[in-house]
Formats: sequence, structure tokens, C-alpha cells
Amino acid sequence: MRAHDTAKSVVQFHVNGETHEAVIRSADTLLHTLRVQLGLTGAKKSCENGDCGACTVLVNDQPMHACLSLAIETIGQPIKTIEGLMGSPIQETFVDHWAIQCGYCTPGFIVNCHALAEQHPQADDNTIEDWMQSNLCRCTGYQEIKEAVKAVLNQKNQS
Ligand code: FES
Ligand code: FES
Repeated sequence: MRAHDTAKSVVQFHVNGETHEAVIRSADTLLHTLRVQLGLTGAKKSCENGDCGACTVLVNDQPMHACLSLAIETIGQPIKTIEGLMGSPIQETFVDHWAIQCGYCTPGFIVNCHALAEQHPQADDNTIEDWMQSNLCRCTGYQEIKEAVKAVLNQKNQS
């Protein structure tokens, strides 16, 4: 890390397999840094309170609410955002199951679903429900999302 001035530092982040440089303050959230400094706007800004999951990203493969994570704490750690899952079968599966309406919550759900499929591909209904509770959707009523997540896990288990 190189001191830029008393309030800001120039640091590098490892996002979606690429290295990005950004000027940050120690209090900047990861969500702010991704969206404003790096132009990665897929993680959505909503409650900024840890309640909705629209800002979900993976840090070291673990789902995190980027609105509650300090950017400075993620320096040197692999970060994956929805942009890193562009074109993944999970996106198609969500579309096929009508699990998207306005789409605002969708990046968070897809990132979280990706983590579930990687870590617990044989998750049962209760585990799926518990895992996805960190994300809120105000449109779909959740049934379509649950069906999409189950389909993603089935595909994972058959591959
Ligand atoms: S914006 Fe981060 S949890 Fe809602
Ligand atoms: S699709 Fe609109 S909030 Fe989930």
C-alpha cells in the first residue's frame, strides 16, 4: 500500500481474476469501491444495512454483504462479483425458471447460489432455505427462485 495523502491510499484489488487499482479511504465499503472506483455496478446498493443481500459478492469464495465489508479488509483477497459470473449457466437457469422480475435482487441471489452450488451441491430444501435467507426479493414470492436454485444444484450434481 502506498500512502496517497493522509486520508486516501492507492491499493490493488483482485476482482474476477483481474488486478484493479483504486484510491480508497479507510472507511470506504467494498460496495462503494466496487461500484464507484472500479465501475463494477452489478452488486446492487439497496438497504446498506446488511438486510437485503442485493450487494452480495464472494470474498475468498465466501458470500459477503459488500455494504458491510470494509474495502481495506479485502485487499489481497480474491473477490468475485456478478460480473465474474456473466454468461454462467446459473443466469440462464434463473431466466428459465422465471426467477427474475425487476431484477434488482438477482445479482445477489445468483452470487449466493453460486457459492451454495460450490460448497453444498447436495443441499436439501432446509439448507437451501437457510442459505438463501440472506437475500430478499420484493417481487417474485421466492418460489421461482427456490426452483431455480434447486435446478442449479441438480445440474451441478449431474455434471
Ligand atoms: S445493500 Fe447490502 S445487504 Fe442490502
Ligand atoms: S426480482 Fe425484483 S426484487 Fe427480486
